[in-house]
Amino acid sequence: MKAPARPLLLLSLCLSCLSFGFAISTGYYNAIFSFGDSFSDTGNFVIMESPVLPNIPVFPPPYARCSNGRLVIDFLAEYFGLPLLPPSHSISKNFTQGANFAVIGATALPLEYFKKNNIYDIPPINSSLPVQLDWFDDLKQYVCNSTQECKDFFRRSLFVVGEFGGNDYSFAMKSGRTVEQVKGMVPTVVDALCAAVEKLINDGARHVLVPGNLPSGCIPIMLTFYQSSNKDHYDPRTGCLKGMNSLALYHNAVLRIELEKLNKKYPEARVIYGDYYGPVVQFARTPELYGFTNGALMVCCGGGGPYNYNASASCGLPGAIQCTEPNSHVSWDGIHLTEAAYHYIANGWIKGPYAYPPLISVMEE
Ligand SMILES: *[C@@H]1O[C@H](CO)[C@@H](O)[C@H](O)[C@H]1NC(C)=O
Ligand SMILES: *[C@@H]1O[C@H](CO)[C@@H](O)[C@H](O)[C@H]1NC(C)=O
Ligand SMILES: *[C@@H]1O[C@H](CO)[C@@H](O)[C@H](O)[C@H]1NC(C)=O
Ligand SMILES: *[C@@H]1O[C@H](CO)[C@@H](O)[C@H](O)[C@H]1NC(C)=O
Repeated sequence: MKAPARPLLLLSLCLSCLSFGFAISTGYYNAIFSFGDSFSDTGNFVIMESPVLPNIPVFPPPYARCSNGRLVIDFLAEYFGLPLLPPSHSISKNFTQGANFAVIGATALPLEYFKKNNIYDIPPINSSLPVQLDWFDDLKQYVCNSTQECKDFFRRSLFVVGEFGGNDYSFAMKSGRTVEQVKGMVPTVVDALCAAVEKLINDGARHVLVPGNLPSGCIPIMLTFYQSSNKDHYDPRTGCLKGMNSLALYHNAVLRIELEKLNKKYPEARVIYGDYYGPVVQFARTPELYGFTNGALMVCCGGGGPYNYNASASCGLPGAIQCTEPNSHVSWDGIHLTEAAYHYIANGWIKGPYAYPPLISVMEE
């Protein structure tokens, strides 16, 4: 008689913690507002560019996302019991539970910065972070009517600003800048991110999550473009390019210092750092530990080459072939990650250890 009692007790304990977790997350935020690039675009690029760009890659329906499924921002919305965020350019204009301003290719710095610095290798889309903030101002009318009403609304929302910077740096590198030269851009990029966070806090935001950069040296497109015959350029534990990763590490270090300053300046707000770098490097070190039996550096949807990334047959273009088990890969298309990788990262931001502090600890304050 005694034997079954224990499993039953354990089961009921587990059920109660599950329902507790559900209770505090669902309804905690009234909305999520997201800014970013292709790591969080949930449809803006397709809406904005389909009529004008002739060779737009084919996205697997119904996602319009650069992945085989959901992104980190989608998992955050699900965890907080909110619908997947509509792109801010959607025609339905139903933004009462949030909006996503992210666009593929977006930069932290405005187009004008790149023109002034002779960095031409960037897509012709006016969608940088300052522009996304203008879109946010235009969209407020769908959720609130007065400054005070908006503040009351936004103080109960979650804001996600990023990832930003990856495109700024890779466009500069494609225009021939060295890693050391590109490091000179970091303070300017971080300033743009902090200015955005301050603007949102002044608009009423209380919880702002700011993701850092991915380890670009572990991203197959970079491994392919900046392939080297010098073994010293690679980290033997991961196979990633050390120089590119040092740029991301530097960006993330400067970002974290500046975000801490904002936390001191605005004690009523919580600015949270979301780590993409740590988990992706862990995937590269021990992919099997996370179920990535096809490794961290081999692309799922690609067209040949040492990492299965081929610029002339990249995912969505003719010649690219999609693997049969995307979630056994970290890299979906050579730039972006698979749903499985994003799911793991999202959990790390919600429950730790990949956010400072994790979202659940901020919710309990
Ligand atoms: C707006 O979206 C919410 C879900 O976010 C839904 O419950 C509601 O019915 C929608 N309203 C309209 C008018 O479509
Ligand atoms: C981009 O859009 C902003 C409005 O958000 C505008 O002020 C700016 O002039 C535009 N820049 C370009 C290069 O079109
Ligand atoms: C703004 O005010 C108008 C007119 O009073 C009202 O119909 C609308 O629902 C309000 N919008 C919001 C988001 O509260
Ligand atoms: C890359 O794709 C092109 C076009 O499909 C193809 O001709 C070429 O052989 C591919 N390169 C590799 C290394 O597979």
